[in-house]
Amino acid sequence: MVTPWEVKGEVDYDKLIKEFGTSRINDELVEKISKKAGFMHLFLRRKLFFSHRDLDLILKDFDSGIPFFLYTGRGPSGRTHIGHLVPWIFTKYLQDTFNAKLYFQMTDDEKFLFRDELSLEKTENNSRENALDVIACGFDEKKTKIIYDVENIDFLYRIALKVAKKVTYSTSKAVFGFDNSTNIGLIFFPAVQAAPAFIENERGNDCNCLIPCAIDQDPYWRITRDVAPGLGYRKPGAIHSKFLPGLEGPKGKMSASEESSAIYTTDDEKTVKRKIGSAFTGGQATVEEQKKKGGDSDVCVVFQWLFYLFEEDDKKLEERKRKCKSGELMCGECKKDLNERVWKFLKAHQEKREKAREKLKDFEMK
Ligand code: TRP
Repeated sequence: MVTPWEVKGEVDYDKLIKEFGTSRINDELVEKISKKAGFMHLFLRRKLFFSHRDLDLILKDFDSGIPFFLYTGRGPSGRTHIGHLVPWIFTKYLQDTFNAKLYFQMTDDEKFLFRDELSLEKTENNSRENALDVIACGFDEKKTKIIYDVENIDFLYRIALKVAKKVTYSTSKAVFGFDNSTNIGLIFFPAVQAAPAFIENERGNDCNCLIPCAIDQDPYWRITRDVAPGLGYRKPGAIHSKFLPGLEGPKGKMSASEESSAIYTTDDEKTVKRKIGSAFTGGQATVEEQKKKGGDSDVCVVFQWLFYLFEEDDKKLEERKRKCKSGELMCGECKKDLNERVWKFLKAHQEKREKAREKLKDFEMK
């Protein structure tokens, strides 16, 4: 089950492409982006980004002189974890490659409305903390604007109103599963999330919008795309990622509210080690058994993290898999390798995150 607020069970990505009516990112598109960038991003090579809407058209437009800007965002429900960084790291690659402007939306309104336990003060504060992680990803401060919904609603409200007028309650119910017990704030909210996609068109700039995001956000873009032509805006395109699995098992997605399933960007060295140490692997119950039967890298979260993020070398990855399956490699060793790489990455991120405090003002809308 995949909705913007919940991902449960094993995710069948092929099925999502069919059900959502999106397109698979084919080799031609991967080549096109990589050629422009000068290198193929690991997330494309390993198909962590796997699906899109109109990416082909947006790239074609780009070649004929119609630029695009990027739009992505974060629901500030808590601390940032490594899974959140996936679309942001990729967005930075796209910003560099296409010299694109970026709007980054912090939906402190959405998380306040959706989560009973969160106060508005809390989600607004989370927004500012999460913004440090965004900036630490290295975005160009001259081309990037962070929008805090609550504080910056004046940038969005005109557009959100126009969108809201075109979306009926019955559409919203069908797309998001709203019912009679849903608070009315949430019923309006999809118009707020649609709005940044139209900022440039509303200002009279003829350009496309490309939204890098995890696939669970796609329902929003269906509505956004449906209303666009009627409002004189261009339909935004999207490029979708899979979910990085949580440490507790290969199902669902990493959750900011489940402490042990996620590694947060502010975790210290000890905590990272402890969490990876108790990660779900495909290992056997005992070393003897593992030597005899081998492990199962297909269900192993440690292997998946290496596959998607922390082992770029295809040959080394294959070798690791072979040794795991043949019982030569024990889980402890993989965990140790992953731990070293995660901590190296996180340490660097934390330094950039601290430096970001001074830059925060330069990235804000006003
Ligand atoms: N709804 C998203 C979340 O809960 C936040 C968000 C707003 C977003 N605008 C976006 C995510 C655009 C991706 C792209 O995380």
